[in-house]
Amino acid sequence: MAEKTVKIGLVGFGIVGSGVAKIILEDNDEIAVRTGLRLELACVVDKDITTARVVSLPDGVLTDDVDQLLNDDSIDIAIELVGGTTFAKDLQIKMLQSGKHVVTANKALLAKHSTELCKIAAENNKCIAFEASCAGGIPIVSAIRTSLAGNNIEAIYGIVNGTCNYILSNMTTKNEDFETALKQAQEKGYAEADPTLDINGGDSAHKLIILSSLAFGYELKLEDVYVEGIEGIAKADINYGGEMGYILKLLAIGKKDSDGKVSLKVKPSFIAKDDPLAKVDGSFNAVSIFGSAVGQVTFYGRGAGMMPTASAVVADVIEVGLGNSEKSFRATSLKPREQVLPLIKKIGNTLSRFYIRMMVKDQPGGLASYSRVLSKHDISISGVLQHEGSGPDNTVPIVITTHLVRQQQITAAMEDMKNLDVVSGKPVCISIVDMPEDTD
Ligand code: HSE
Repeated sequence: MAEKTVKIGLVGFGIVGSGVAKIILEDNDEIAVRTGLRLELACVVDKDITTARVVSLPDGVLTDDVDQLLNDDSIDIAIELVGGTTFAKDLQIKMLQSGKHVVTANKALLAKHSTELCKIAAENNKCIAFEASCAGGIPIVSAIRTSLAGNNIEAIYGIVNGTCNYILSNMTTKNEDFETALKQAQEKGYAEADPTLDINGGDSAHKLIILSSLAFGYELKLEDVYVEGIEGIAKADINYGGEMGYILKLLAIGKKDSDGKVSLKVKPSFIAKDDPLAKVDGSFNAVSIFGSAVGQVTFYGRGAGMMPTASAVVADVIEVGLGNSEKSFRATSLKPREQVLPLIKKIGNTLSRFYIRMMVKDQPGGLASYSRVLSKHDISISGVLQHEGSGPDNTVPIVITTHLVRQQQITAAMEDMKNLDVVSGKPVCISIVDMPEDTD
């Protein structure tokens, strides 16, 4: 097979950038044999051109001058691994306007500005490829785009933030507290520079927007996602949920009903212990997709880190080099925003089961009072757990699971519950997510 060479420029020689350079420089011959494409790393740009990395670049490749890349007309593909949404946005625009296809891992930028960036790409007959932006090394973007193209995608359930999954896993299996687990996740390099975006669910929301836009064919925006993070999660709730057969995960959930209505949520969620997602531990990511033809498919792998993310970046470089990304980029047309807006479901209208934990005074009438509140809001109890023995101030923890209710019913019931004399402090309320049945 005749070999084709593509010239590549990379901006951002940090952790992922070094991994990308390492693959291109060390595995180029094998890649050329497998794909017919030879990758030539022509230019690597970074502010820091002195610190040693995991790979040494050939002389003359490393520079701190981005114009060297932008002004080189022989460069076909520009990789943006800078991160952030300001400098990186200007940079991607300049890359496109100087006639280069863009490959990026920048989920925050795409979640906020993909409409504008894709328009600029189209005007310049270029494409933007972003496999590495969601779930690191898991090829989920290409799976949605190509392998699952014969399906109407009905739902996405994703564990797409390794930091949160690492924290929740360690709280569950090692009985660690939140702060200890977060510190370890930071030390291991899973967390964003500012871990707030990990733990408040923002990073998962970025990835959910990217995946759901592609899966459902809608122009979606961050404001469409209801987001709750894991900051307030107590070990006690992980333990009580565990007693009732559930594991706690931060789930990013996108669902499209048969009438086209879409709901998007990032929430700490209890899932059944035997669901494939319940077994995803540590910093691993996993995404379950429910397709009209295929049923449930679950993708599992490393969602962050140098080489897994570099794997996705290089895959995109190859797909762009072969001309495949450009074709699928051109073919993607999302339902425009004004038509999508009436199809976004408000969180209050979405249905879920719930786990509720309250500290209730251990005295006659406690059970009667809270069950009256639930009954008033038409909430049916599915299970109750109360151990003998008292908590602080003669209280006892009571855990209730509900049948399916609307979020707005639970919110109203929690307000009433808080005001009951027998209830001490604020009740805890966490969704229970039952995956759709996929039976023969
Ligand atoms: N901070 C992210 C995570 C990195 O923890 O998953 C990958 O996007």
